[in-house]
Amino acid sequence: MRKIIIYGSYYNTCKKYAEKLGQITNIPVISYEEIKDINEYDYIIYLGALYAGGMLGLSKTFKKIKNIDNKNIIIVSVGLADPKDSENCINIRNNIKKQINLAIYNKAKIFHLRGGIDYAKLKFSHKILMKLLYNHIKKIPLNKQSAENLAMIETYNKKVDFIDFNSLNQIIENI
Ligand SMILES: Cc1cc2nc3c(=O)[nH]c(=O)nc-3n(C[C@H](O)[C@H](O)[C@H](O)COP(=O)(O)O)c2cc1C
Repeated sequence: MRKIIIYGSYYNTCKKYAEKLGQITNIPVISYEEIKDINEYDYIIYLGALYAGGMLGLSKTFKKIKNIDNKNIIIVSVGLADPKDSENCINIRNNIKKQINLAIYNKAKIFHLRGGIDYAKLKFSHKILMKLLYNHIKKIPLNKQSAENLAMIETYNKKVDFIDFNSLNQIIENI
């Protein structure tokens, strides 16, 4: 069985999780930008950073997959919002559903991890996007804020690191 860990990461927090998972499981790790033929693998573990709800590289990676009958698929999101919040996880899953074929979505085991952010290192367009989003959501009353919004308000303009390699255990148990 050929296994692969693929990651979609912009600022490396997701890459760190992918590499750690690769180290522990002895499965090769590759960026979604470098994968040549996804159909060479029958065990695919995809870790993707969340950007405005979407998962980086997810649709591009799974677009070319052919027969999934005998494949194992694990999809792991890495975002700022707390994955212990069930509403947040529902939102992430709904967004994943929009990015891939329903059959792949139904087949995949899905997990959620928490990443980090360093505003000083964001590229200009990301900074602007976050500023617009922050200005918009801070007007919402506190009791109506989602976990996603709260995470954003709490971390705005800061450097935070929520990476927790122990949270990989739930995935390792499934491999
Ligand atoms: C422009 C932008 C949009 C983001 N959108 C989301 C989001 O919708 N949900 C979320 O949980 N985190 C969001 N984040 C936070 C990233 O998912 C988080 O920083 C993640 O750890 C980044 O992974 P990477 O370092 O591998 O790129 C966003 C960050 C930026 C800069």
